[in-house]
Amino acid sequence: MHPRLIAPGALAAASVLLAIPASAASVSPGAPGIGDPYYPAYGNGGYDVSHYDLRLKYQPATDALEGTATILARTTQDLSRFDLDFLLDVDEVRVNGARAAFAASGEHELEITPRTPLAQGTAVTVVVRYHGIPSSKQAYGFTSWHRTPDGGVGANEPEAAWWWFPGNDHPRDKATFDVSVQVPDGTQALSNGTLQSTVSRLGWTRYSWRSDKPQATYLATLAVGRFDLTTGTTESGIPVVNAYSKDLGAQAGAARASIERTGEIADWLSGYFGPYPFNALGGYVPNTTTGYALETQTRPYYSPRQFANGSNTSVVVHELAHQWYGDLVSVAGWKDIWINEGFARYAQWLWSEHEGEGTAQELADYAYASRPADDPFWTVRPGDPGPENQFHIAVYDRGALALQALRNEIGDDAFFTVLKGWPQRYAHGNATVADFRGYAEEVSGASLGTLFDTWLFQPSKPTASAARTVSL
Ligand code: ARG
Ligand code: ZN
Repeated sequence: MHPRLIAPGALAAASVLLAIPASAASVSPGAPGIGDPYYPAYGNGGYDVSHYDLRLKYQPATDALEGTATILARTTQDLSRFDLDFLLDVDEVRVNGARAAFAASGEHELEITPRTPLAQGTAVTVVVRYHGIPSSKQAYGFTSWHRTPDGGVGANEPEAAWWWFPGNDHPRDKATFDVSVQVPDGTQALSNGTLQSTVSRLGWTRYSWRSDKPQATYLATLAVGRFDLTTGTTESGIPVVNAYSKDLGAQAGAARASIERTGEIADWLSGYFGPYPFNALGGYVPNTTTGYALETQTRPYYSPRQFANGSNTSVVVHELAHQWYGDLVSVAGWKDIWINEGFARYAQWLWSEHEGEGTAQELADYAYASRPADDPFWTVRPGDPGPENQFHIAVYDRGALALQALRNEIGDDAFFTVLKGWPQRYAHGNATVADFRGYAEEVSGASLGTLFDTWLFQPSKPTASAARTVSL
């Protein structure tokens, strides 16, 4: 029996017999990154998380967050050491019950050295007790934790988790989440999924949320503040919980007029993408000043700025489209961002058509014609934009143009079969741009190499004739 197959508990005894465990030389640390070329330090190697249990306490007045993360994982190699991605201050780490050594390293790594090496393929429970002021922490010069007058919010892409929980921060390692947060009475704590309970005592209220389908770490969210909650149900029976900061001012009406249509929009999207994949739904608007919205799983994050000019159902369509394209099926690597953003934008075009505000073809024609060939927009390759252009407008607009080109190439029947079939094909998993091309070819029987190269990978404006799609 190879020593590495000895259970951790038995290893200490074995090492007494052998003086030095024979396995020690072959046991190595897990990689500090999961292997994403855009973000080499994001995620980690050597294990796979199945569940995060986060039991926290947050004080809005001081932005102090403290608590315990219990992480259930399985090793994928022998491990002498492994990393979590995290920025707050760690008080104690236990691995399978025993205290483990830990040290901060790099921009956002927490290196954990268990008392005895971990054998490949074994279940591991990691308990991290921690505290800190999330807004005081930066990595690479920025923060993804946004203070609000009444609390704080963790929501960003591709990274937000490091500011509030330790984890394997890459969409390739999805897990289920229980997030339970104690906040002062009169304050709410919001997260993904279903509100399991609220319990008040001694001046604090604990909100316990459960997201019980695999969820990427960047899609986990925590918001604390003073919110008005509304509830409803979709036509298909999914419970909806929305939350609006009590201090949205002039934006309050427009935000509600948009987000209260979440159930209707999710039902409408399911006509294109198949059944809504999760069992909870909603949206929330904290009192932030960020410019973006985010498809946090089951409960997207919206900034009040989205509603500055009035109602904006289009952004709701965008974030809800991501529940299928981004959340149910996630990028395998961040270079695959088009399989999220191109489709969420295209859903907005379909909604425009539904609302009588311009057809998808008209919006594609406009997007194509409104940017001259020398516009740097056309140098961005949506199929591999580079980390600096991950959220460039071209990933969205040229990305949706690529879908209109595909639709014109393979015809409506095949195109809408692809749109509905894809989320099922890779449900709860990950996929690449190449996987999408393969699936579209499989469904349509067409050879699509030229079309994909032209619209997603060529660093210049496609000529309409090259893909015989969009008229000038
Ligand atoms: N996926 C988000 C959306 O389009 C984009 C988030 C962009 N993040 C950022 N920090 N700019 O809905
Ligand atoms: Zn998006």
